[in-house]
Amino acid sequence: MSTLAARHPGRITGHGTDPGIADEISELLADVRARTELLIAPLSEADLHVQHDPLMSPIVWDLGHIAGFEELWLLRHLERPFTGLAALGEMPGLFNPFEHPRRERGKLVLPSAAECRTVLAEVRERALARLSRIDFDADSPLTRDGFVYRMVAQHEAQHGETILQTMQLKGGEPYRPAERIAPPTGPRLHHLTGVMVRFPGGAAEIGTNDRSAAYDNERPIQRVHLPPFEIDETPVTNAAYLEFMEDGGYRNASWWSDAGRAWLASSGVDAPKYWHRVGSEWWTRTMDRVAPVELTHPVVHVCYYEAEAFARWAGKRLPTEYEWEAAATWDPQTSTSRRFPWGEAPLTADLANVDQLSFGTAPVGAYPRNRSPIGCLGMIGDVWEWTATDFGPYPGYESFPYREYSEVFFGPEHKVLRGGSWASRSIAIRNTFRNWDLPIRRQIFSGFRCARNA
Ligand code: AVJ
Ligand code: FE
Repeated sequence: MSTLAARHPGRITGHGTDPGIADEISELLADVRARTELLIAPLSEADLHVQHDPLMSPIVWDLGHIAGFEELWLLRHLERPFTGLAALGEMPGLFNPFEHPRRERGKLVLPSAAECRTVLAEVRERALARLSRIDFDADSPLTRDGFVYRMVAQHEAQHGETILQTMQLKGGEPYRPAERIAPPTGPRLHHLTGVMVRFPGGAAEIGTNDRSAAYDNERPIQRVHLPPFEIDETPVTNAAYLEFMEDGGYRNASWWSDAGRAWLASSGVDAPKYWHRVGSEWWTRTMDRVAPVELTHPVVHVCYYEAEAFARWAGKRLPTEYEWEAAATWDPQTSTSRRFPWGEAPLTADLANVDQLSFGTAPVGAYPRNRSPIGCLGMIGDVWEWTATDFGPYPGYESFPYREYSEVFFGPEHKVLRGGSWASRSIAIRNTFRNWDLPIRRQIFSGFRCARNA
């Protein structure tokens, strides 16, 4: 046995198990799990069990579901050849999301947090034991280049963001983070409203062919032709949004679409979620912090209809998701695309407001390197950005490895959001990543920027 094979027993030849990938994956999985633990650390057993809002699961459901998902993909599917397409129905019972809609999960008899932790640890131990025997070069599209492990890590990371939505929603004792890293506060931008940058129009590449980390809905890569457009340099700030509110934005029906008007009438809202008046001022609560609304921060916790109404009031519109991605990715000077607005450098929390520990938004422009080729700031991180586009398949889309991640949500009822928020983990965010939700949702960390034809 060669020295290399002795050190890495799974690696027999130049092909076969790659210790580099295996090490990277075990670190990734450990990091994501440590974060899940950190997020839930401040919660009492009661807070872990109660359903805080009909929109969200009890946290122990998320924990059991994370374990069940990992068991399905990193154990059961790796014990047999993969046929190309699986079904989430192979994970039946309490933790199958389709068997038990969120609003009903509070009535389920769920295991204790301690029981969930035991199962999580047990599944993880078995998954790691198997990791050293995986051939990352072999043909199976599930394990090739580590895909299924990155899918499972992204899944747990996404549920971390879900848990944070639940914690922000919860009543009673506010959620007090176990650890917090203050985001940068400067340099400040001179303008807080209205500055736009220009995309000259022409070809741009959208999506990816990557199969090591990307989801099926990001594939295949396609070349699109876009007419020239302008797009906001930054996400819409609280300063700008307050101008809309003070100009009677919520009362003037002409800014709202029919669906938006119907939502406005039935919801009765007159401000972003979590805002309240203190005398003549607007204040907001972010987890355990209650303070006047920060004018320099992006507006957050607005639904699609509010974004759409603001855009109409401003004489603009929401960008399509292709425009958004071209503005984040495409360099018209060189006709090349970037993985992130700043280039290929991996996303870390010093480049953009991501990875959760800021526990809130940062001033727009606080991350000067987070600038795209055409000059958009902050497209990655801080707030998810609503786009005008319905969630649908790209031409040539193929479901992989299961229909229930993307395909079952395609259709006009869901709008696409882009760019990730402060509550998104860096491993689950990139220029091509597509999120989606109902246009009425505000518990997500959602903001927007506007565009117009040029
Ligand atoms: C991509 C955020 C819409 O939370 O419904 C988690 C992510 N999919 N488990 C969701 C997801 C399966 C998904 N979103
Ligand atoms: Fe899930």
